[in-house]
Amino acid sequence: MKGATAYAAAFELGKVIPVRAVGQIERSNAQGFEVGELVWGFLGWEQYSLVSDPISLRKIDPTLGSISYNISCLGMPGLTAYVGMLDLGRPVAGETVFVSAASGAVGQLAGQLARMAGCRVVGSAGSDEKVRHIVEKLRFDAAFNYKTEESLERALEMHCPAGVDVYFDNVGGDMLDAVLARLNTFGRISVCGQISEYEGTPKGLKNFSALVHKRAAITGFIIYDHMDKFDAFLPKMAAWLAAGDVVYYEDIVEGLDRIPAAFIGMLRGENLGKRLVKVGSDPTLQ
Ligand SMILES: NC(=O)c1ccc[n+]([C@@H]2O[C@H](COP(=O)([O-])OP(=O)(O)OC[C@H]3O[C@@H](n4cnc5c(N)ncnc54)[C@H](OP(=O)(O)O)[C@@H]3O)[C@@H](O)[C@H]2O)c1
Repeated sequence: MKGATAYAAAFELGKVIPVRAVGQIERSNAQGFEVGELVWGFLGWEQYSLVSDPISLRKIDPTLGSISYNISCLGMPGLTAYVGMLDLGRPVAGETVFVSAASGAVGQLAGQLARMAGCRVVGSAGSDEKVRHIVEKLRFDAAFNYKTEESLERALEMHCPAGVDVYFDNVGGDMLDAVLARLNTFGRISVCGQISEYEGTPKGLKNFSALVHKRAAITGFIIYDHMDKFDAFLPKMAAWLAAGDVVYYEDIVEGLDRIPAAFIGMLRGENLGKRLVKVGSDPTLQ
């Protein structure tokens, strides 16, 4: 919202809030974009958007899955998990991979990709319902509720007895510190997000020096630097979903007027899966 992260423009008072959305073309003066076609891209918290740079829109192939998938598992969250886990985490069969915010839009895929690579996959989330979902539906090997554990260090010790080889970090803060203390030699930390630090004063890390004696790597990334991988990613993820190798959960709220509450609720952890808001009917289902 502050524009500090380079993957979203700062919100401006009095302006429509930008959001990645699926849309259907109502009118077009742009070559190659026909009325009725489905597209996704940066539109707005609004029912109708005027797009002056249609080149930024991507056309939707409805045969690859639900059209909403283009802003979830087949879109940016999917590519983020794919790049952050496979390219930066580089999981190897037999290793232990830990994912925070593991039931969310990105986390659920990051963990499943590591499981497909043959790793033991452990997740954390903020409710017992999410923990059950992570193990039973997403097929992680283990998960824990970081809000009810007395000590994150002890929770990691219990669920990652062989240490952590790859950490897919969505939250930063105390969890990152606890993982640093449990990291294996030549471990990799893929820093996708720091949601626990988005408000207030950052706490700082006590265990950062673990990177030295563990000869470990920590890499932050912003998905827009990896758009060149999108065309390779899309058919692979679509095939994994179609085969059931990967499952994906969306958490859909209905109504344009509910967007602010849905967004704030996501930041508070109300969502189980990718939080989306439905503002119109899906023309592929009519
Ligand atoms: N680097 C990139 O290019 C890129 C791209 C997309 C997203 N991201 C980042 O990736 C992370 C996940 O994004 P997402 O879209 O997949 O969101 P998400 O996981 O679907 O939703 C956010 C989740 O964060 C958890 N959370 C909120 N406050 C927390 C706290 N203080 N400590 C720990 N967990 C907290 C909540 O789940 P619990 O109930 O489990 O607490 C909430 O459901 C975010 O940090 C986001 O900024 C980065």
